[in-house]
Amino acid sequence: MQNRILITGGAGFIGSALIRYLIQETDTVVINYDKLTYAGNLNAVADVAGSSRYHFIQADICDREAFKAALDEYQPTHIMHLAAESHVDRSIDGPGDFIHTNITGTYELLEASRAYYESLSDEARAVFRFHHISTDEVYGDLGETGLFTEETPYAPSSPYSASKASSDHLVRAWRRTFKLPVVITNCSNNYGPFQFPEKLIPLVTLNALEGKPLPVYGDGSQIRDWLYVDDHARALYPVLTEGKVGETYNIGGFNEKKNIDVVRTICDTLNDLVKDKPEGITDFKQLITFVTDRAGHDVRYAIDASKIYKELGWKPLETFETGIRKTIKWYLANAKLVF
Ligand SMILES: NC(=O)c1ccc[n+]([C@@H]2O[C@H](COP(=O)([O-])OP(=O)(O)OC[C@H]3O[C@@H](n4cnc5c(N)ncnc54)[C@H](O)[C@@H]3O)[C@@H](O)[C@H]2O)c1
Repeated sequence: MQNRILITGGAGFIGSALIRYLIQETDTVVINYDKLTYAGNLNAVADVAGSSRYHFIQADICDREAFKAALDEYQPTHIMHLAAESHVDRSIDGPGDFIHTNITGTYELLEASRAYYESLSDEARAVFRFHHISTDEVYGDLGETGLFTEETPYAPSSPYSASKASSDHLVRAWRRTFKLPVVITNCSNNYGPFQFPEKLIPLVTLNALEGKPLPVYGDGSQIRDWLYVDDHARALYPVLTEGKVGETYNIGGFNEKKNIDVVRTICDTLNDLVKDKPEGITDFKQLITFVTDRAGHDVRYAIDASKIYKELGWKPLETFETGIRKTIKWYLANAKLVF
């Protein structure tokens, strides 16, 4: 049977990479359900939007009736939930949208999905999954050693990560209490094409090209574990179709980098690729500017992805070095597509 996957947040950075992968590499029908907030960008799915297997609905995950109507109309075999408010700094400036979208929105989806699941035939129920896409930030600050496993206790630090942790708990509760067949993934920091330029890598790349300061929080010693977005998209599909119901899978590339080293790598790559540098710039590293640290900033995240490696045979294709060069080349050619 052909899969029909309803994807929330499919106009976002990761959701759009997932949709491009599903349309280009599988025979799946995709229903992109997205409100198009400031972070939604239909340019990111333009290459596949002409496919007869692609459908788009502009609607809010907090609107249960709209979601129910989408389920009734498209009868999805699977749901992948990526819609969220996703930027930590915005969650510090205004947590309300994060509580509403990430927690209430997930609750509305779970309730509508539960009613839908209960209406399905036995055959359709056997296939149906609700896949909740989450972040490694739910595990909190790691300290200098160790890795996050699927058993690491939750200890979120920011309003963003606390709202994602809450949504993960709701999803597990709907499994335990209502037997909704769920899978959860917690992934490390993603980078790649079509990321909104408020996040570190596109922000630094695009600021550098304009000769603007490259802001680095604190002393830049915070460590993140970076994964190329297409590798994340390729990991999600086997979790959805082959992962065990009720299980969590951590996704990461064993690619720990200090923020300051990421910024220096971007500068060195731009030094190499950009012939016409902004006036007065001989080395983009001149633009690095240390700014007051983010409140509550976690020092280190790092994922132990051995479960998905072993059980589902997934491995990233990109190293940080190949992925960052691809990403910077993409922004050099396509910056106008992300605004
Ligand atoms: N970016 C990362 O590094 C990362 C890492 C791990 C997990 N995640 C998770 O992956 C998911 C996708 O992240 P992203 O970086 O692509 O986010 P994003 O901010 O780029 O995209 C979010 C998308 O959700 C849509 N959206 C927001 N509120 C909505 C609502 N109420 N109803 C319907 N659509 C709504 C937006 O329009 C946008 O298209 C999120 O759940 C995030 O927590 C992100």
